Amino acid sequence: MIKRQTVDGIRKMKAAGERIPMLTVYDYPSTLIAERAGIPMLLVGDSGGMVVHGYDTTLPMTVDDMIFHAKMVTRASRSALVVVDLPFMSYATVPDAVSSARRVMQEGGGQALKLEGGQEILPMVRHLTALGVPVMGHLGLTPQAQHQIGLKVQAREAVAARQLLDDALALEQAGAFAVVLEVVPAPLAEAITKRLSIPVIGIGAGPHCDGEVQVWHDVLGLYDGKTPRHAKRFAEIGAAIEKTVREYAEDVRAGAFPTSAQSASMPLETLKEALEG
Ligand code: KIV
Repeated sequence: MIKRQTVDGIRKMKAAGERIPMLTVYDYPSTLIAERAGIPMLLVGDSGGMVVHGYDTTLPMTVDDMIFHAKMVTRASRSALVVVDLPFMSYATVPDAVSSARRVMQEGGGQALKLEGGQEILPMVRHLTALGVPVMGHLGLTPQAQHQIGLKVQAREAVAARQLLDDALALEQAGAFAVVLEVVPAPLAEAITKRLSIPVIGIGAGPHCDGEVQVWHDVLGLYDGKTPRHAKRFAEIGAAIEKTVREYAEDVRAGAFPTSAQSASMPLETLKEALEG
């Protein structure tokens, strides 16, 4: 039987100095592939708002949208710890957080939730963890706050860097089992990683975090054009898909596909009987 990764297992990876690869997934086939490739922790990210739904930001994503994606992922998932993002404004108060967590975990599935923010979300983190819901924090460039903080590197100044460290320590204290640090200076991420006993997962936070999370479409090169600076295209799957789709369309146009190899036949007498009888 396949054993599912746990929050404790993820914590132990940090303690053992084992680096933690994490990747977003939004549907059934990508989850099957990610788990076959051995990814121990998957994120049903609200980045799906942009890379799957075509919105400009993550803000339009709703609890229903997250449940829709979580359902597809959890139907496929057997081995990874599945973390699901709570979307914009769905955890603004403790009652909101409880209601959103209940819906996402009961209807969508998954083993943990991710919430963006520092001091301002501590009551929600404390409450959810006390109720038995594993929470992952998310600090730095928190996309749900992008209209306030911009899409630039965060915590470059001493005061903001100190605040980020304090937020990370406070999240750990509040019960978070791990923290994502997005687009912050690498030396700061390294210092925070050393001071926290829970795993720090970077994205645009340099090479010294305990693990890394990236967006499926960025890693696979599914889109033409702009890839975030922190991402690396490990393949050009978008171009490979386009080439394949062109070949398919050309074969259909040329009458080269389908052929008898992809067809079913029937005895001619049966056909004759059907047409004439
Ligand atoms: O939604 C998402 O994909 C994320 C990662 C970028 C960390 O939050």
